[in-house]
This record gives sequence, C-alpha cells and structure tokens, in this order.
Amino acid sequence: MILDKKVSLGFLPTPLHYMKNLSKKYNGYNIYIKRDDQTGLASGGNKTRKLEYLLYEAKELNCDTLITAGAQQSNHCRQTAAAAAVAGMECHLMLDGTDSEKYNGNLLLSHLLGAKFHFNEGKRKGEDMALLKAELEKKGKKCYIIPYGGSNTIGMLGYINAVKELKQQLNELNLKADYIFFSSSSGGTQAGITLGKDLFELNAQLMPVSIDKSETNGLSLEQNVLQIVNEGKHQLNIKKEYQLSDVNLIKGYDDKPYGVVSEDEVFAINEFALSEGIILDPVYTARAAFGMFDMMKNKKIKENSNVLFWHTGGLPANFYYADKLHQ
Ligand SMILES: Cc1ncc(COP(=O)(O)O)c(C=O)c1O
Repeated sequence: MILDKKVSLGFLPTPLHYMKNLSKKYNGYNIYIKRDDQTGLASGGNKTRKLEYLLYEAKELNCDTLITAGAQQSNHCRQTAAAAAVAGMECHLMLDGTDSEKYNGNLLLSHLLGAKFHFNEGKRKGEDMALLKAELEKKGKKCYIIPYGGSNTIGMLGYINAVKELKQQLNELNLKADYIFFSSSSGGTQAGITLGKDLFELNAQLMPVSIDKSETNGLSLEQNVLQIVNEGKHQLNIKKEYQLSDVNLIKGYDDKPYGVVSEDEVFAINEFALSEGIILDPVYTARAAFGMFDMMKNKKIKENSNVLFWHTGGLPANFYYADKLHQ
C-alpha cells in the first residue's frame, strides 16, 4: 500500500483535544484542535508528515543530498534540514534574500541543523533548484529535489494518512467535526486532506484558509492544489475527477502579502496563547485562525457546530517577528 511507503520521523498520532476556554468565548461553537505543531522533528509542524514520504523516496533512489527552497523563515526548510540530519544526508536550501549577520528563528535552526544556504534574491519557490542540482552533481552528489513546501504527489501522502489518523480519533471520541480550518499555502496539505477526506469518508466541510495569493510555477494556489489532487489520486485508485470547486479556498484573509504580520495575526496569536496556552505562528496558523475567529464571530458558519482547527506548526518564526509581537 502506497501509504506504508514512508520512514518514521514524527511523533504520531498527534493529540486531538477540546479547547474549553475558546469554546466558551465563541459561544455557539465547540472548538477542537489537532496538534500537528507536536509532530516532532526540530519543533514540529506539518512538514514532518510530508517528509516521511519524501525521504522514503529519496532513500529508495539512493540519494545522499536533499535540495529544497523557501523563505528565510521557512518551516519547511527547517524541517527538511532536520530530516536530512536524521538520515545522514546533506541538505542544501535555496533561500530568498541575502545572507545576514544575525540568524534568528527558523533560519538559525536550519543553520544549527547543518543545512547549506544558497541565497537567491527575490526567489523563494525553488525556481533555480535544477541549476543547483546540476552543480552539485558535477561534484559527485546524488540529489533529491523536494519542491517548494514539499507539495507534490509524494509529500501530500502525509496528509492523506493524517486524515486516516484524524478519522480514527474522531470515531474514538464519537465526534463529528463539522468544519476543519487549516492554512493552505503551497497546497500539499490541502491536497492530501482533500483526497484523504474522500478516501476515508470523512464527513466534514474543509475550510482551507489561503495564506499566500502569489502564483507558483504560473499557477494559482487553487490550480496547484487541483493539479496535485488529480495527479496524486491515481496512486490511491480514486476515480473521481476533481474540479476547482472541490478545492475552494477561504479567501480574503490573504490581502496582506505573504509573511507580513498585521494586527489580525497578532490578535489570533493572543487569543490562542491567552485562552489555551497554545502558541501559533505569525505567518500561517495565525492567519488561518484569524479567519476562523472572524467567521465564528460573524456567524458565517453554522451555529452549534463542532469546529476543528488543524494546527500546522511554525513556532520558531515567532522569534523572528518579535518586534511585531511585543510592542
Ligand atoms: C506552519 C505552517 N502551516 C501551514 C503551511 C501550509 O502548508 P502547505 O504549504 O502544505 O499548504 C506551512 C507551509 O507552507 C507552514 O509552515
């Protein structure tokens, strides 16, 4: 079975629990959280699940080097560096911007995890990874390229499997999640949850909150998710032909550019921290959580429902954004 073709990198299953203080505050909603901020692998996050499958393939191909890309504060890059360290591989990261004297947040952790940095001003989505691969292969390395965000038909298997895990937990609690909110940015998490929902017959409305409006490889986020879904479904023998309407995003919370932290994200971080003692991240989960709070406050989702927030990690970026979070 394709879902078994993975290495073990994380602490799974992650906890699923009720948030009593937020539920009290947002009267009319029972709010639960799935803790993928607790997946392990250098402080957790959604990339652990994707990397279990990606690393399996890299090893099958006898690769000794991982290449990936992202912003300097990329959680994906930090977790890829950790996976490479565990596997005894080299890790090369193509990062936006220029080198700085002082490392902080995820960039510092990626450095501690032994990654080699290649700064590439204005490019954070891995536009030049093939060039780097060619360069490293001339030096005798065998490279495995992991796309931006680990979002392809292999990486998304992590979130198909995650839905299986969630479904089992919901069954054990005799609980139905009416809505599942999560951040969507490079699209692999959403693609996996979309296919997992159909494969494991999860009866819930998906609420993927768009984090980043910019295109990747000339495709919008929805188009990217749809492409991963329609290419990846064959591995699972899913016959359905997916349309753009099957991968609808919650938009409108992504008006500020990617990585810009506003009072909305700060509000969501405070709400989780002060009510539940849970730390979100300022770029992804806080944006999605703000969307969830806004929709509950304005009754844009039905009352007396069970709402699940899927926390996808990102804690280290708080340190980089300290000036925005402490004023
Ligand atoms: C903390 C966190 N949450 C959510 C996401 C979005 O996941 P995806 O890129 O699979 O859409 C990312 C990565 O981009 C992330 O780092």
